Amino acid sequence: SRMEPTVMVVFGAAGDLTWRKLVPALYNLYLDGRLPERFAIVGVARQEMDDAGFRRKLREGVDLHSRRSVTDESTWSGFADRLSYLAGDFTTAETGALLSRRLEGLDREWNGRAVRVFYFAIPPGLMEAAARQLESLGVCRDCSRDRLVVEKPFGRDLASARQLNGLLTSLFAETQIYRIDHYLGKETVQNILAFRFANSLFEPVWNRRYIDHVQITVAEAVGVGKRGGYYDTSGALRDMVQNHLLQILCLIAMEPPVSFSADEVRNKKVDVLRAIRPIRPEEVHRVAVRGQYGRGMVACEGVTGYREEQGVPPDSVTETFAALKLWIDNWRWQGVPFYLRTGKRLRAKVSEVAILFRPAPHQLFPSAAVESWQPNRLVLRIQPEEGIASRIQVKQPGTRLLLGAVDMGFRYHDAFHAASPEAYETLLLDVICGDATLFMRADQVESAWGVISPILDTWESVPPADFPNYQAGGWGPETADLLIAKEGHSWVQPD
Ligand code: BG6
Repeated sequence: SRMEPTVMVVFGAAGDLTWRKLVPALYNLYLDGRLPERFAIVGVARQEMDDAGFRRKLREGVDLHSRRSVTDESTWSGFADRLSYLAGDFTTAETGALLSRRLEGLDREWNGRAVRVFYFAIPPGLMEAAARQLESLGVCRDCSRDRLVVEKPFGRDLASARQLNGLLTSLFAETQIYRIDHYLGKETVQNILAFRFANSLFEPVWNRRYIDHVQITVAEAVGVGKRGGYYDTSGALRDMVQNHLLQILCLIAMEPPVSFSADEVRNKKVDVLRAIRPIRPEEVHRVAVRGQYGRGMVACEGVTGYREEQGVPPDSVTETFAALKLWIDNWRWQGVPFYLRTGKRLRAKVSEVAILFRPAPHQLFPSAAVESWQPNRLVLRIQPEEGIASRIQVKQPGTRLLLGAVDMGFRYHDAFHAASPEAYETLLLDVICGDATLFMRADQVESAWGVISPILDTWESVPPADFPNYQAGGWGPETADLLIAKEGHSWVQPD
């Protein structure tokens, strides 16, 4: 291919993300022939390890987490030859010098200046030191070739996100900075744009005249697993809502962009965040609900409660569930509530957007015919069982006039036989190619923090009295049902 020689330097290479997500993604890109011919991965971390040990560890990660396993050893070694490891504290001059030398060595070997991608898979506390070191080494100065990928969490509130943005943009150009939200790399999330803007069927009804309300659910069946230490300092609002759920909301609510270029799309998305009605502190309890899981229900007996998880204090008040009601103050969405919910240890892993439509303007059928009437709805299923289904009313077979609801839909699995790439495959390839469309700009990240700030503040100052308040294996706390029942709505339970 014509792709430029590229080296990807991963800071935090001994961590979970590299092993579980990044390297399996790169391996799959390699299998598909999508990586540049000249490509190298340099892992940097403090842990003592040599190249062989690093490759062994990553091989194990591929065996466990790649969507395609290693079927042939020579293919694996063709990929593994590109992996190397540098043990040391990246913020020291010594390790910095070693890294510079390695980068220069690759340029010499490849006969030209390579594209350099620096991937920050490190805790937020180390970002500043790492960024400063990178700048002072002078290895990231070519704005067209050198890129930085910053993992979440991007700050822990508006002030710290601003500070981090301020720091990064004082050292590098905004166009060099790729703030990652892996939800944007999911096929089905990208498909929201295709669905809305490549069809003429839906966009005309995509507004307050026809849509009654919107529900966004990102439910997980897993608990916090081994990430209790991190998670307990974060909580559902920071871990999921600030990024993944608000990004999905932007794609559902945005105006049509003029083109698919990075800034066109991002401008329209940030407009949505800016239009979200600010939440006043005194109304937080009316628009936001938090929950924490206790022990399991009968169906999953033996499942521990959050406070018994590894790394979590027994009196933790961190939320593992959050539900929100948001209003978007613009022409398209005035008066249409957007309900968001996410949580761990819910009944099933399922992410979907449900668009609920208003009733037909005139009800001409006899009331006996519409006994089981349900509103039209469109469900965009993000995962698993990716697809789209719309619920419509039809006449039930029989001599009596009786309406019934049926689903009309498509499933990725049936419509296309090719497997979908993992989110990280798409996103890493975009970074390598220099396409920032699916990454977050500084203003987006800050606006998203701005939306949830009042809730974070209120929740922090008023500890919950009722935690744990939902059982593992259910659909979250009862208060989440009450939240949306106020407008006469109820959550669409995924089937
Ligand atoms: C991550 C969160 O960003 O997303 C995790 O930190 C969460 O807590 C994960 O489990 C969910 O991602 P996915 O792709 O499995 O839906």
